[in-house]
Amino acid sequence: MNKLMVFVVFGLGLIWACGGSGGDVELGKKVFKMQCVACHGSDGNLQLNGAKKLEESTLSFEERKAIITNGKGAMTAFGSILTPEEIEAAAAYTIKQFPQK
Ligand code: HEC
Repeated sequence: MNKLMVFVVFGLGLIWACGGSGGDVELGKKVFKMQCVACHGSDGNLQLNGAKKLEESTLSFEERKAIITNGKGAMTAFGSILTPEEIEAAAAYTIKQFPQK
């Protein structure tokens, strides 16, 4: 019984810790669905308008944040559309959701 409690608390702590490092993944998911799917697709591989497959991206969290904020090529600059928090969340989401194969 006590062991179970420890497990539950530990599990929640882990989930919280992950969400807390570099962006809120739930928020990122929402932002991605609303703003990014049109070009990148829900699996990150749509490649519309020359968008790269996100699972092939080698960019770091900071670099992704910069591209999302400032745009690049055909990609929209989201700096004036999304809040910094939403941009961080979206960047974190692309790393988590589309890891390099
Ligand atoms: C209008 C279409 C479009 C939308 C909307 C869009 N992107 Fe992009 N995205 C692109 C294109 C095109 C590129 C490739 C830019 C280049 O390298 O010239 C790109 C590149 C990227 C990259 C860099 C990949 C790499 O390794 O070079 C990331 C990360 C990214 N997009 C994330 C996002 C996120 C997150 C959103 C939503 C907030 C988003 N994109 C919305 C078109 C789009």
